[in-house]
Amino acid sequence: MAAATQQAENFSSVAWSYFIDVREDTSEEFAKQQELYSKYAKTYDEWASEEEYSGPKAVATKILKLYSNEKNIKILDYGCGTGATSDLLSEHGYQNIDGLDPCKEIIDVARSKGKMQKLYQLKSGDDDSVIPSQEYDVVCSSGVLFCSASHPGYECLTDIIRYVKPGGHIIIAHRQVDSCIESRHVTDLAFLDNDVKQGKIKVEAKEVIDRWRRPANTLEGEDIIKGELLIIQVL
Ligand SMILES: C[S@@+](CC[C@H](N)C(=O)[O-])C[C@H]1O[C@@H](n2cnc3c(N)ncnc32)[C@H](O)[C@@H]1O
Repeated sequence: MAAATQQAENFSSVAWSYFIDVREDTSEEFAKQQELYSKYAKTYDEWASEEEYSGPKAVATKILKLYSNEKNIKILDYGCGTGATSDLLSEHGYQNIDGLDPCKEIIDVARSKGKMQKLYQLKSGDDDSVIPSQEYDVVCSSGVLFCSASHPGYECLTDIIRYVKPGGHIIIAHRQVDSCIESRHVTDLAFLDNDVKQGKIKVEAKEVIDRWRRPANTLEGEDIIKGELLIIQVL
């Protein structure tokens, strides 16, 4: 019985006990979330495959479409986790990929794969002056925004816009905002209206991803969770 219980405990079975609370103290909430990623860093990729999590593929496919003949572009994966997106991109010849993630253990897994260059241990809202302005052709992100109340929302786009070269793209995949448990973060893209009006960015598309992943447990219902793919060009 003990063995069965142990076997059943994996990332998806425990994730919501780490994610579900909307606490008064947001730093406590974030610390709990990071504890989860640290604990399951080495088995995270197995979970992603079991849940048929499709975010990294959606992002990589879009990058391939937009930059099929430009394999030397410089890419930053925001909230890179174990490097699932860079795993896919490197299969297609992209090698100039950096990552950013607050979780040391998960960064260690990404580093061990040897597919990314620089790895920044940072979270949204941190002092990010170590990242030069207009450094990247593409900043991508999958499964970070709206993953839970302690993950960021669209407000992190303000920082991300700074990292992108004029003409470059921001490609963000996230679970559908409507399917999120309560978010205290910015969920409305109208937040970017001023940047659009001032000609700084253009929101090129917001596409639905029909199969984001299977629900992790009963709290998420039974339906396949949908996602969204947001494509912004920095002008
Ligand atoms: C569900 S994982 C997705 C990882 C990877 N992008 C993928 O698709 O497999 C969410 C990642 O977001 C990172 N994260 C959480 N809060 C963050 C924040 N405020 N800023 C940047 N990354 C964050 C976590 O450490 C974790 O690695």
